[in-house]
Amino acid sequence: MIGDSPTLAMNARAQEMRRQGIDIISFTVGEPDFDTPAHIGEAGIRAIKEGFTRYTAAAGIPELRQAVAKKMKRDHGLDYEMNQIIISTGAKQALANALLVLADEGDEVIIPAPYWVSYSELVKLAGATPVIVDTREEDGFKLTPAQLEENITERTAALILNSPNNPTGSVYSREELAGLVEVLKEHRGVYIISDEVYEKLIYDGLEFVSIAQLDAEIKGRTVVVNGVSKSYAMTGWRLGYAAADLEIAKAMGKIQSHVTSGTSSIAQRAALEALEGDQGPVAAMVEEFVKRRDYMVEALNAIPGISCIRPQGAFYIFANVSAYFGRTIRGKEITDSLSFAEALLVEAQVATVPGVAFGADAYIRFSYATSMEKIVEGVKRLADFVALAE
Ligand SMILES: Cc1ncc(COP(=O)(O)O)c(C=O)c1O
Repeated sequence: MIGDSPTLAMNARAQEMRRQGIDIISFTVGEPDFDTPAHIGEAGIRAIKEGFTRYTAAAGIPELRQAVAKKMKRDHGLDYEMNQIIISTGAKQALANALLVLADEGDEVIIPAPYWVSYSELVKLAGATPVIVDTREEDGFKLTPAQLEENITERTAALILNSPNNPTGSVYSREELAGLVEVLKEHRGVYIISDEVYEKLIYDGLEFVSIAQLDAEIKGRTVVVNGVSKSYAMTGWRLGYAAADLEIAKAMGKIQSHVTSGTSSIAQRAALEALEGDQGPVAAMVEEFVKRRDYMVEALNAIPGISCIRPQGAFYIFANVSAYFGRTIRGKEITDSLSFAEALLVEAQVATVPGVAFGADAYIRFSYATSMEKIVEGVKRLADFVALAE
């Protein structure tokens, strides 16, 4: 059965409490709290004014497909022809397209946990079976070559990689990816879906590396998924893209042509401006996210019984709260991440997403895509809440 999105459920509950006039601090948000940069919005408005409001080619307008190909070359040194690029309704549709093409009934798809909630459901939607592989906090929540090797069977159709990661903020280094490539080279039938949607939100001067960069043959069986949602604060525009081997790209385009006929013409013009125009707003957003991360990592680690590693990308912190399991806070028994998150919401008016939603029950996800003022207040409420543990 396809499950509901638990992150959306928690958000809905927090919104309902807010509607009742309760002052909620929400750390559940999965999108930048910044507006779409003005020059990008203007490009969308221009598209409307020019009457660019009709169906486009299902795989996207040629200018944008070309711009994505140019970006892949500019940012990663990767060569793609325009017809290897498919523009979709968000990175989510690109992922769905990829899985529908690569995975069938009886196939397995390896998903390292903690994972973004939709992966396993999309795999099931394709009729395949998700194989969840738990990563370790000591390994920075990253899949090791040995773990990959252990979980590949003759039924493995694909591996889903997500770097920078939601919910952990982990970023795979070139060396770590090279280790995985070594294993994948021995298993020629395994495709790779590389979700790079947080690519631009990377900190500490770290270099973003796509697994497709490491080896030409691996590139041929990698579907790179990306989009403008997170990097350019454009979640509502619904624009993502994929770069893949020509045959895979064609198949993805065909599926999409029957499901949505492609994404909005207006969003495509705006995305063209996002990719080709001023990149200043991205840098400004990154600068702000770093400040918040630094504050929050230190503040959370200062709370007894709560610990987190320092995420290097995205805008999430995945904190271990399991020291409170088996204890009681304001009469509420804390047994797992869900009961912790529920008690925190009801008793301290702080909304978070329980780690169980991401396949890691010892943790809580905090999004810092909210103002510094709210972060300071929210962390204080959290500290006061757990101080009442018995
Ligand atoms: C890891 C990951 N991939 C993909 C998406 C979906 O992106 P889009 O809004 O472009 O569909 C999200 C959104 O939360 C995400 O966290």
